[in-house]
Amino acid sequence: MPIKNRRLILLLILLFLLIIVGASKLPIAVERKITVFKPEVKKINGNDLLIDVNKNNCLPVDYVPDDLVNISDYEIPENSAFMLRKIVMQDLQEMVSQAKKEGIGLKVISAYRSYQKQGQIYNSWVAQLGIKEAQRQSAVPGCSQHQLGTAIDFNELNFSFADSLVGIWLYQNAWKYGWVISYPKNSEDITGYAYEPWHYRYIGKENAEEMQKQGLILSKFLEEKNNI
Ligand code: DAL
Ligand code: ZN
Repeated sequence: MPIKNRRLILLLILLFLLIIVGASKLPIAVERKITVFKPEVKKINGNDLLIDVNKNNCLPVDYVPDDLVNISDYEIPENSAFMLRKIVMQDLQEMVSQAKKEGIGLKVISAYRSYQKQGQIYNSWVAQLGIKEAQRQSAVPGCSQHQLGTAIDFNELNFSFADSLVGIWLYQNAWKYGWVISYPKNSEDITGYAYEPWHYRYIGKENAEEMQKQGLILSKFLEEKNNI
């Protein structure tokens, strides 16, 4: 091959290599110039009435609401000495007294639960049912809405409660007083928990009305409100 042609081929190979190397470096250079946008991560604040507490979003071990009050100081039937956040009490009282006027006897059978108390309850479910079934019914400590002091279990932990006069009344009327069911029927794939017709959470009257109008279940409503 004549020397002239060899030079030409070498030149072409060199040019080819330069293009390859240049091209492979290009995205890196571009990438470095891109400003990565990080959305603000919302910190878990248990005092926020709309905080989404679920299996993936849990409260700090030491979170205790700072406005807890004794239910016994209000005219609300309970089967033990429970506490709730003061912020829920006025609407709860209004609901209980309206229900009473309509012949419906509401009774609190669980309310605020500390991290430690939730741990005892969860462990007792695990002992009875094994971990898999227990986790369908009980939150691990830190992940229970009861630690918020804004959740109540009413009257009886029994599926038949849903069809009782009290259960039906609550389902139809609780939202008017700011209370909504957390774990509705046929929602386990979304909430992670089996149906709990007795478990209601307080989100305030306006929010509960908005959720009712939108026809959303609580976890979806909270996702929307928190832009998750
Ligand atoms: N039973 C509900 C899921 C709780 O333990 O908070
Ligand atoms: Zn509950």
